[in-house]
Amino acid sequence: MDKAEKEKTGKNTKRKNAETIQPPDETHAGVLHADTPLEEDERDGSLRPQNLKEFLGQKVLKENLAVFITAAKERKESLDHLFLIGPPGLGKTTLAQVVAHELGVDFKVTSAPALDKPKDLAGILTTVSEKTVFFIDEIHRLKPTIEEMLYIAMEDYELDWIIGQGPSARTIRIPIPPFTLVGATTKAGNVSSPLVSRFGISLRFSFYEQKDMEAIIKRSAGILNIAIETDAATFLAKSSRGTPRVANRLLRRMRDFAQILRSKSITLKVVEEGLKRLEIDNLGLERYDREILRIIIERYQGGPVGAETLAISVGEAVDTLEDYYEPYLIQTGLIQRTPRGRMVTPLAYQHLNIPSMFIQGNNENKGLLFQSP
Ligand SMILES: Nc1ncnc2c1ncn2[C@@H]1O[C@H](COP(=O)(O)OP(=O)(O)O)[C@@H](O)[C@H]1O
Ligand SMILES: [Mg+2]
Repeated sequence: MDKAEKEKTGKNTKRKNAETIQPPDETHAGVLHADTPLEEDERDGSLRPQNLKEFLGQKVLKENLAVFITAAKERKESLDHLFLIGPPGLGKTTLAQVVAHELGVDFKVTSAPALDKPKDLAGILTTVSEKTVFFIDEIHRLKPTIEEMLYIAMEDYELDWIIGQGPSARTIRIPIPPFTLVGATTKAGNVSSPLVSRFGISLRFSFYEQKDMEAIIKRSAGILNIAIETDAATFLAKSSRGTPRVANRLLRRMRDFAQILRSKSITLKVVEEGLKRLEIDNLGLERYDREILRIIIERYQGGPVGAETLAISVGEAVDTLEDYYEPYLIQTGLIQRTPRGRMVTPLAYQHLNIPSMFIQGNNENKGLLFQSP
């Protein structure tokens, strides 16, 4: 917590110092931001796969999970606690729900920021049915007091409860039903090691492969009753950042474009035109992604630049930069993470059509301004 506080204040002072740096204007394509679910996504629960068979892609992860689920069911035990790691929109919440469904048990959802007081956690854990899958989203944001309570709950299926106050206070242990904790995070590095070590199973999501993205788009189109041609689905899949949430959002937008363009189905032409209007390029980059690359190149000579500084320069929260934009830019090989910060790769110059001469020119300028001794 302390660290977070410090980071906050640090950010503010840096913001002041960075006044000369103008963030890009605010009209970036927030439509696609898979960082947080839109109301539209929530309403469309119908798109969420209900069981492992409908849950497409993530083959290795799924195969392992299927073994653990079958084994737990055979032993008539609750499934071991499950830790889900991955960028937003890849299916962590969905998979937690699928696990509950496959186990045939209840599903309870909350997120770490919603667990404010010990009684919030106790209220849930003392009332769950046996073997319930209890999902905590953003588990890296748990308060220390809640986290400590959770350790004992996970290990012994008991809660430490303090009654009374002052010198007469004492702790009693309250038994709770065996349950499965599913913790999800976009930031595995921010989860404390005692918590991590209490998860029996750890699963890391990767961006979806092209063929899986195509299958997801076709499945969603079927459910939403949208006609889409195969080449259009292929193209859309390529532009969806390997992220099902983005694919589903783009699909809805393409339906809008098809309607306006008086096309009965989503054709390749509709997708090409639609993506152009949304400023999404052939790598699936949004305008904001390109802005990030451009800023690293033009203001920081290609990097390295620290995440905080970069976030301020692009006018975005550091969390959003790190959780949403960066993983995909790294995946596509456009930027690299180094101990000293983020750097663009030659591919980024190519993609933006900026000659690498540009860096040399800039270095010369820099040389004039800051003469080395
Ligand atoms: N494996 C998958 N197959 C099909 N659709 C998926 C899959 N994973 C996710 N989705 C779709 O993407 C959306 C976002 O997934 P979600 O579980 O909310 O992501 P996360 O919790 O990781 O941010 C879901 O509503 C679901 O419709
Ligand atoms: Mg989620």
